[in-house]
Amino acid sequence: MTLKEDGVFHTHKGGIPHSELIGQPEGSVVRSSGGTQYLAFRHLLQDYTLSMPRGAAVIYPKDSAQIVAMADIFPGARVVEAGVGSGALTCFLLRAVGSEGTVTSYERREDFAEVATKNVEKFYGGPMDQWRLVVGDFVEALDESDVDRIILDMLAPWECVDAAAKALTPGGVICCYVATTTQLSRTVETLREHGSFTEPHAWETLVRDWHVEGLAVRPDHRMVGHTGFLVTARRMADGVTPPPRRRRPAKGAHGEESSSSTR
Ligand SMILES: C[S@@+](CC[C@H](N)C(=O)[O-])C[C@H]1O[C@@H](n2cnc3c(N)ncnc32)[C@H](O)[C@@H]1O
Repeated sequence: MTLKEDGVFHTHKGGIPHSELIGQPEGSVVRSSGGTQYLAFRHLLQDYTLSMPRGAAVIYPKDSAQIVAMADIFPGARVVEAGVGSGALTCFLLRAVGSEGTVTSYERREDFAEVATKNVEKFYGGPMDQWRLVVGDFVEALDESDVDRIILDMLAPWECVDAAAKALTPGGVICCYVATTTQLSRTVETLREHGSFTEPHAWETLVRDWHVEGLAVRPDHRMVGHTGFLVTARRMADGVTPPPRRRRPAKGAHGEESSSSTR
């Protein structure tokens, strides 16, 4: 919300005139007409991505944080992502690459691309030189090479692995975010079979808040138990395949046939 001299913010406990906030430092306390006290702060990026309008489901801040750290998004990086959805991850990526880096987002749905554009531009105060949004399918529209990092958040990232391998620079990182175990399995196996990537690393994070008050220190009763799985792998040098894995697949890992052949 942009404050206006004559504006009023309506809450279910009464209105707060904007004029009471204008000129006050962040962290001020204001009282609504119903007598309730409110803390006044500018939103953090994590607040913004959870409350902005959504086209597609967004990546939660806990996973965006993992992606920034584990996919090693650095200032000055050339990053490609697909799809853009509502632009939540895009906001975090743009912040992490900074003014010297670039983010190119591929999105095949025009309506989602519009939602993402509005969300990103609203957060950053207008169009950004570092950001390019391409409306089109990742595999067909990808027109970049020497990319440092590729992030895929979509239903079928395995369909994009070959195109991603061609666009990534040697040593570059691919990171896929998927919601279900079947997607996870297919993504990992495709990366493994492709031959241009290191052994994929797959994981998830569970965040449990804690109630801390005097001697009552315990986990919260509720938590966000599942959001999604993450997979990362690194692009090998051109023409180089990783050495065979030292650990053989567990018996039955690849179905009946593999069980009998490993006996
Ligand atoms: C879950 S949403 C992405 C959410 C986004 N990461 C965010 O944080 O707001 C998945 C998006 O991927 C898009 N998509 C799926 N497959 C695609 C492809 N092959 N190329 C481009 N976009 C794709 C879908 O249209 C959808 O908007």
